[in-house]
Amino acid sequence: MSTLKDRVIVVTGGAGGIAAGIGQAILEAGGRVALMDLDRAKVEAAAGALGAGDRAMGVAADVTKPASLKSAFDTVAAKWGRLDGLVNNAGIVRLGPADETTPEGLDLELAVNVKGVLLASQVAAGHFAGKGGAIVNIASNAGKVGYRNMAGYNASKAAVINLTRSLALEWAERGINVNAVCPGGVATDMLKSVAEFLAPRIGQDEKALFDTMYPAQLGRHIKPIEVGRVVAFLLSDAAVIIRGQSINIDGGDTPY
Ligand SMILES: NC(=O)c1ccc[n+]([C@@H]2O[C@H](COP(=O)([O-])OP(=O)(O)OC[C@H]3O[C@@H](n4cnc5c(N)ncnc54)[C@H](O)[C@@H]3O)[C@@H](O)[C@H]2O)c1
Repeated sequence: MSTLKDRVIVVTGGAGGIAAGIGQAILEAGGRVALMDLDRAKVEAAAGALGAGDRAMGVAADVTKPASLKSAFDTVAAKWGRLDGLVNNAGIVRLGPADETTPEGLDLELAVNVKGVLLASQVAAGHFAGKGGAIVNIASNAGKVGYRNMAGYNASKAAVINLTRSLALEWAERGINVNAVCPGGVATDMLKSVAEFLAPRIGQDEKALFDTMYPAQLGRHIKPIEVGRVVAFLLSDAAVIIRGQSINIDGGDTPY
């Protein structure tokens, strides 16, 4: 299957766990991938780890900063001369009870998880250069149901779900398709940080807790490559009739 043959896709938060699976799936579908993340050395190492030679690159970018994004997308355009898709995957979670959430902490969470999605999408839309493109936002099932100790994160992902609808509506006439996925229980450092926070508070062993943090119907953690293959499908032409949707990919945990 070469559903993304030679297409150039940017993945933000590119040095993270889920990004590795997304990058792999884009390559499997015949595309080229530019991973973007805060630390140049880390993101270049992540691109190298994909083992795709010249078909993967790592670029430093902070999704909260327009100038940083512009420069990073220009670097991708200078290498490959085109842009066909964007995966807004960069995200952070700050854990703690709602009544201990600080204004600064909430600002940071909203800056990366919401503002970052809008800013990167604006820059990408400029690079699609009138020929259209596809954007996939990595929201979360937390944006639909809400979980304890992550009120800011829950709210930020709910905002991503609505931003997805809004961009799909406004940009359809420019040939840009915008969708989101709502994962849950993917085995990455982010999920480990949740186990690390919760374990001492509920008197459980951290590893034992992590080992149970998966979708009940699936009976195991979700793998980054499984997220990646759904994302690669949504980036492809076959997904043209799916627009402005936020699709649960959490192994059946969220029924709506
Ligand atoms: N792991 C899960 O179970 C899960 C579930 C639902 C949603 N998600 C979402 O999936 C996405 C990826 O998460 P992950 O589990 O791979 O976590 P991760 O922590 O492994 O990766 C997140 C990446 O985002 C990068 N990042 C943070 N701030 C940034 C910024 N300002 N600019 C650029 N990059 C930045 C980090 O450096 C990191 O490499 C996130 O948006 C997360 O909210 C994860």
